[in-house]
Amino acid sequence: MRGSLLSYVLSGLTVFRTVSALPYHGADFSSLLLLESTTDVTYIGFSSTAQPYEQILADYGANLARIRIWTAGTYNLTYGLELAKRAQAVGMDLLIDLHYDDTWADAGHQAIPAGWPTDLAGLTSQVYNYTKELVTAFNEQGTPIQFIQIGNEINDGLLWPVGQISVNGFTPASELLHAGVLAVRSVSPSTNTVIHLANGWDEADVAYFYGGVFNVSSTEEGLGGGLTESDVDVMGFSYYPFYGTNATLSALSSSMEYVVSSYSKDIMVVETDWPAVCNTTATPLSEPTIPADVEGQTIWTDDILAVLNGVNLDYGDKAIGIVYWEPGWIGNAALGSGCADNLLVTSTGEMRESMWMFSNM
Ligand SMILES: *[C@@H]1O[C@H](CO)[C@@H](O)[C@H](O)[C@H]1NC(C)=O
Ligand SMILES: *[C@@H]1O[C@H](CO)[C@@H](O)[C@H](O)[C@H]1NC(C)=O
Ligand SMILES: *[C@@H]1O[C@H](CO)[C@@H](O)[C@H](O)[C@H]1NC(C)=O
Ligand SMILES: *[C@@H]1O[C@H](CO)[C@@H](O)[C@H](O)[C@H]1NC(C)=O
Ligand SMILES: *[C@@H]1O[C@H](CO)[C@@H](O)[C@H](O)[C@H]1NC(C)=O
Repeated sequence: MRGSLLSYVLSGLTVFRTVSALPYHGADFSSLLLLESTTDVTYIGFSSTAQPYEQILADYGANLARIRIWTAGTYNLTYGLELAKRAQAVGMDLLIDLHYDDTWADAGHQAIPAGWPTDLAGLTSQVYNYTKELVTAFNEQGTPIQFIQIGNEINDGLLWPVGQISVNGFTPASELLHAGVLAVRSVSPSTNTVIHLANGWDEADVAYFYGGVFNVSSTEEGLGGGLTESDVDVMGFSYYPFYGTNATLSALSSSMEYVVSSYSKDIMVVETDWPAVCNTTATPLSEPTIPADVEGQTIWTDDILAVLNGVNLDYGDKAIGIVYWEPGWIGNAALGSGCADNLLVTSTGEMRESMWMFSNM
């Protein structure tokens, strides 16, 4: 408990007074099949014996599985379909995260897959065909998709350089996104489309993106048209504490209120995490009063929930979920951050107390 007791209690009271849980309590556990096939990892659930990790997540309250899919390589379609079957079998809905890349796509990397066209017309057609076939494959195996991200952290567009906003303006990116949405809607009208940006706390960047992407001159409805507001069901955001001290909860609150008041779309924090272990001198966190420990992990997601509940009180129930990124990736506990360990499990696969966040977010 130590010095963190006060902030925990204060946060807890705030949560108790004003916050109710959102419909979706998500975990991105895309790495699970890879870990199972390449290591002897085990996860220990309520039974005190090894159990499938997705079962443990569901037992703790997770009801949404976020699954990344690359156009080739480790996290290919075959992999995504297999993991989706397991998630659905324990009662989870699916948030499929399309990277449109043979490897990681994020705010700094968005490479055109090998063998794909490298002109806008060709890429638009390719995005449409690829997305349509992928969504069809999920439908055909009996795991229809509830939410699908058209791209991952596309603040500067996707399929670079063709769809790179800083290089070619908003028109190519907007048309590529519209093609992805058309493909989804053509085969699975009940699937909710998600546009996903990094740095959800950064209102100026979020405003720049949506102001531009919805403002392209080509407004025709078929392929070749730009993204429209009605194409988008959910606006999703990453929100991490380690990549800049401006990523405060109050900045997140302003930004989310801006988004919902401007576009009236559902919103979701589709990626977040908080360290169980961190040298915060080397890696300052954006909310330094929250401890970098297991208790702090719960405070962090409670506080995000409080922010989203505030949006819901002001604008109706627009905030629909929070997703923790890779809570069980043993062997990669830093999860790409400067902090040593952001997992909700120990290195030997026991669940930390913070796993209870899935019952409360
Ligand atoms: C997908 O990756 C798996 C290994 O994870 C591999 O066995 C399979 O051939 C790949 N499938 C496709 C369609 O690339
Ligand atoms: C997409 O599919 C259509 C219809 O099968 C085909 O005509 C077109 O060439 C495909 N586009 C690409 C880029 O392969
Ligand atoms: C919208 O597009 C028009 C025409 O290209 C341009 O003049 C205007 O600045 C754009 N607005 C935004 C917010 O990007
Ligand atoms: C952080 O916020 C301050 C004050 O608003 C601003 O001057 C600074 O440019 C921001 N830094 C980043 C990296 O956005
Ligand atoms: C934490 O990071 C600081 C700054 O890089 C370094 O000087 C210090 O030795 C680190 N502390 C530990 C315990 O590793």
